[in-house]
Amino acid sequence: MIARPVVAAALALACFGASAAQADDEVNVYTYRETKLVQPLFEAFSKDTGIKVNVISASSGLEQRIKTEGVNSPADVLLTVDIGRIDDAVQAGVAQPIRSEIIDKAVPAQYRDPDGNWAGISMRARVIYASKDRVKQDAITYEELADPKWKGKICIRSGQHIYNNGLFAAYVARHGEAKAEEWLRGLKANLAQKPSGGDRETARDVAAGKCDLGIGNTYYWALMMNSDPDKKPWAEATRVILPTFEGGGTHVNLSGVLLAKHAPNRANGLKLIEWLAGEQAQQIYADANYEYPVRAGVAINPTIAGYGKLNADPMPIAKIAANRKAAATLVDKVGFDN
Ligand SMILES: [Fe+2]
Repeated sequence: MIARPVVAAALALACFGASAAQADDEVNVYTYRETKLVQPLFEAFSKDTGIKVNVISASSGLEQRIKTEGVNSPADVLLTVDIGRIDDAVQAGVAQPIRSEIIDKAVPAQYRDPDGNWAGISMRARVIYASKDRVKQDAITYEELADPKWKGKICIRSGQHIYNNGLFAAYVARHGEAKAEEWLRGLKANLAQKPSGGDRETARDVAAGKCDLGIGNTYYWALMMNSDPDKKPWAEATRVILPTFEGGGTHVNLSGVLLAKHAPNRANGLKLIEWLAGEQAQQIYADANYEYPVRAGVAINPTIAGYGKLNADPMPIAKIAANRKAAATLVDKVGFDN
């Protein structure tokens, strides 16, 4: 996600009050997602259902906060981004299973926790921003990023950032730790510079000629191209290639939703979760934040569709989550960020 300033906290705290955590026509949402994105969603939900949404927005520490609040926590629903943060919340013990036929039907099984502790609501892919001038090929595999032909040509942010942790964990899940280590060493050897910045800065460095291939998420390129005139030249100098694993597809990660363990408005929380997987909400995710809908049959934003058809890797996201630690350990072991 993009930077998430703490915006609605004061307002929301006022809304929650001391004894108003439970109310028939309200639902309390803790979110890491930007207000700009979630506000249109919640407004549409309220209009549809008559349920008022109280929001607490923060850039970190929400699962810790829910944990500390314990049985008195007003949180009904937690919205977060990336399997890394989703998994952190589950590990913190703040979730309860989402038991919903609507979710089971709307969200493909690979994008849901087999135990029901989380569900994916939208997707982003981790892709290549390739120099238009210097990269001629149209297809690439993740495996190929370790090929010496790219020596000194690749830019990427920290190997410990959750987005790369997810990709590297997918590599471990697919190929095992030994091969993943070899691959990470090869990728590290191909870097043009020490891992730094964010995905936008990676595009900037490709545009500036520091590297030929950058690794970034799908929505950043669309945001730079369509919504950020200062950074538009970085998108214009690059094109997005959807890489695939050999014999597999493109690595995707999720924004996800959890039902809080002690949700005082559990039924309304479930209603909101189900609504977020519905057609209207999925279209907002697709257009307002350039994400891929998890629900079939919802139109993908034209800029994102312009990358080509996404063939998402079939690896269940829960298996990727299970390899997060191994990936982080390997990143340290090979000195990826040094
Ligand atoms: Fe992001």
